[in-house]
Amino acid sequence: MDKKWDLKIKNLFSLKDKVVVVTGGAGSLGEGVARGLANFGARIVVTGRTAATLAKAVGQVREAGGEALAIVADVTDENSVQKLSEQVLAAYGRVDILVNVAGIAIRHPAEEFDIADFRKVIDANVTGTFIPCKIFGAIFKQQGYGKIVNTSSVRAFAGHPGGYAAYGTSKGAINLLTKQLATEWAKYHINVNAVAPTIFWTPLTQEVLENEKLKKIFLDRIPFGRAALVEDMVGSTVYLCSAAADFITGQIVYVDGGCTAG
Ligand SMILES: NC(=O)c1ccc[n+]([C@@H]2O[C@H](COP(=O)([O-])OP(=O)(O)OC[C@H]3O[C@@H](n4cnc5c(N)ncnc54)[C@H](O)[C@@H]3O)[C@@H](O)[C@H]2O)c1
Repeated sequence: MDKKWDLKIKNLFSLKDKVVVVTGGAGSLGEGVARGLANFGARIVVTGRTAATLAKAVGQVREAGGEALAIVADVTDENSVQKLSEQVLAAYGRVDILVNVAGIAIRHPAEEFDIADFRKVIDANVTGTFIPCKIFGAIFKQQGYGKIVNTSSVRAFAGHPGGYAAYGTSKGAINLLTKQLATEWAKYHINVNAVAPTIFWTPLTQEVLENEKLKKIFLDRIPFGRAALVEDMVGSTVYLCSAAADFITGQIVYVDGGCTAG
């Protein structure tokens, strides 16, 4: 070990100048993750379906002193994500990291689950994770490097009485997709991991927050006794995007206050 090694260690978590695409970048968590990554020096491309909400996310990153670009895309539409990738390459000439945050939740009792709703969740969460992985993965293969961080959930780990037949199934699929791509693409030096948080209080979970009984069921299952905070998710995402995680692939990092520990 020498001074060069010390410098490498000091920069292990730096994302300086890394070009990072964040899907669902205008959502409650996506916006925070984008701003959080920018705090470590990343150049952010926020993507989502609505230009107006993306503009707000860009403002968030710039307020933190970061650089951000907004590009409209629908993650369930392959042509749309293909165009997104072309626009990112036209703007920066390369792309280093993909963070898939886009997702939806629809909850119903399983025996009453509307099949159209079931398909919507699977399409948004599973296909909507796979399409960006496929398109940016092909670019990473060509570059000979790249990192992908998917967003799973504790609902991928165990069932829950709150109507998660579609959502839990979709997140379970994201876990296995993460492991599958990790094993398939290690030879191209592509890392594929996922963060799997417990509940946050965002519009996605509004109906849980408003239902005292359901809220108690959730909090009783979390040893730390509280919901997750955006910064809990930022920490693990930054780690998985950084050189500190160069030898980590195919892992699901539960950000859950101990929920899946016991
Ligand atoms: N909120 C929670 O408690 C919680 C817990 C665990 C995991 N998660 C996961 O975190 C992610 C973000 O959740 P959130 O709470 O910020 O939700 P959110 O609804 O605030 O944000 C999700 C974003 O994804 C976007 N999106 C949905 N479908 C899309 C599509 N087809 N194309 C492009 N963008 C699309 C939405 O427009 C929205 O901006 C989701 O994957 C969710 O499953 C959330």
